[in-house]
Amino acid sequence: MNGKEHIHLGIMVPERKPPRNVEVVAAAHDQEPVLANLFELYAYELSDVADIHLGSDGRYGYPPLPLYWQEESRFPFLVKVNGYLGGFALISRGSQVSDNRETWDVAEFFVLKRYRRLGVGAGAAHEIWRRFRGPWEVRVLETNRPARIFWQAAIDAFTGASIKPVAVRQRGKQRVVFAFDSSGAPPRPIGRLPDHT
Ligand SMILES: CC(C)(COP(=O)(O)OP(=O)(O)OC[C@H]1O[C@@H](n2cnc3c(N)ncnc32)[C@H](O)[C@@H]1OP(=O)(O)O)[C@@H](O)C(=O)NCCC(=O)NCCS
Repeated sequence: MNGKEHIHLGIMVPERKPPRNVEVVAAAHDQEPVLANLFELYAYELSDVADIHLGSDGRYGYPPLPLYWQEESRFPFLVKVNGYLGGFALISRGSQVSDNRETWDVAEFFVLKRYRRLGVGAGAAHEIWRRFRGPWEVRVLETNRPARIFWQAAIDAFTGASIKPVAVRQRGKQRVVFAFDSSGAPPRPIGRLPDHT
């Protein structure tokens, strides 16, 4: 023990402090298995709020994943926290709720539990919105309340406005959609979020 950990209910919990360095890096094709592994953690957590089930191989799987290295409209990212894998983001171009092909869409987004509530998710999202300027949509399952609160906070901090989400029902799933434009946003994150550039 180096004195920086603290004891909580008899369990040693590592100290959690804002990360020194958060990076959003494009995932190379040979990192597809890394994304696939991270996706399993994400899907397991989402199974709390969505009707998803393991396949007979014991994996959730994500059939569209290979498309992220095949189609020009898809962008896979890894989030690194102090050099460690900390999450991922899958971004695609083309609205999933309208026929607007210019709109950017956050398809999937995940931060590992170890790095949560430290500004990693908001910082990574801000970085991505700054890289891809233009109209954005973020779709969130109505049942995923923490994510809805997170996106509201992250988008409001980014835009400096209070963006009201719209309810959408698609393929039997009730979602809310946040729509905003990242074109005029300041080049750097605002508020307490770490600077990732
Ligand atoms: C949602 C998620 C990405 C948030 O990542 P994060 O790195 O913890 O988020 P941040 O630390 O940047 O949070 C920024 C703000 O969002 C809000 N927020 C984030 N997580 C929240 C939660 N679980 N409950 C309530 N508010 C939350 C807070 O206002 C927070 O600021 P604060 O910590 O100063 O109060 C992460 O919890 C996650 O990966 N969840 C599982 C997967 C998921 O649901 N993905 C989204 C799919 S649409």
